[in-house]
Amino acid sequence: MATPMIAPSILSADFARLAEEATAVAGADWLHVDVMDAHFVPNLTLGLPVVKSLLAATDIPLDCHLMIDDPGRWAPPYAEAGAHNVTFHAEATDDPRSVARDIRAAGAKAGLSVKPGTPIEPYLEILKDFDTLLVMSVEPGFGGQSFIPEVLSKAKAVRRLVDSGELTLIVEIDGGINADTVEAAAEAGVDCFVAGSAVYGASDPAEAVQALRASAAK
Ligand code: DX5
Ligand code: ZN
Repeated sequence: MATPMIAPSILSADFARLAEEATAVAGADWLHVDVMDAHFVPNLTLGLPVVKSLLAATDIPLDCHLMIDDPGRWAPPYAEAGAHNVTFHAEATDDPRSVARDIRAAGAKAGLSVKPGTPIEPYLEILKDFDTLLVMSVEPGFGGQSFIPEVLSKAKAVRRLVDSGELTLIVEIDGGINADTVEAAAEAGVDCFVAGSAVYGASDPAEAVQALRASAAK
């Protein structure tokens, strides 16, 4: 398998020092940016103006995770602004394919995310229209929660379809990834690991990125 990708989540960073916090994870593959609207999830974080500032402040590709209602309206501007990935939730729209189409047309990779309780089977058919599947391994809304191992069956199912050539997709996991959980996720076939508290809670975030990548590669 390819080298595991690590995407530190700035949700656990110091929001007053975001440019420095991006620099602190040099060597990360993507910088994961959690956009929450206090409607789709019961928390509020940041939006497009902050993403635009971050784009100007770092060369690390931005992996925008939109935990918002109405992604058909709000997702494409993140792509237009220059985000590398724009991921929205399957639960937030009736027409995920058209949202993916608009994101791609605006120049970004399109990602679909599913909450822990959302089955993947109804979405397998449309995953060919996506570049990333983001499997949530905690309930979206907050950092620092415990990993839910049951979601790994979804990663395994999609991994099989990627390995058999039926899909071309990065399998990403988000929530509770740390030194204790990263190996199980890697065994399930995850390509990209989001980690918030495990990276920004470490005394050396860049070293934490390398350590997670090494554990995922075991
Ligand atoms: C949760 C966010 C996650 C969060 C992960 O809703 O989507 O990206 O930052 O944080 P940890 O790694 O601390 O679980
Ligand atoms: Zn996230």
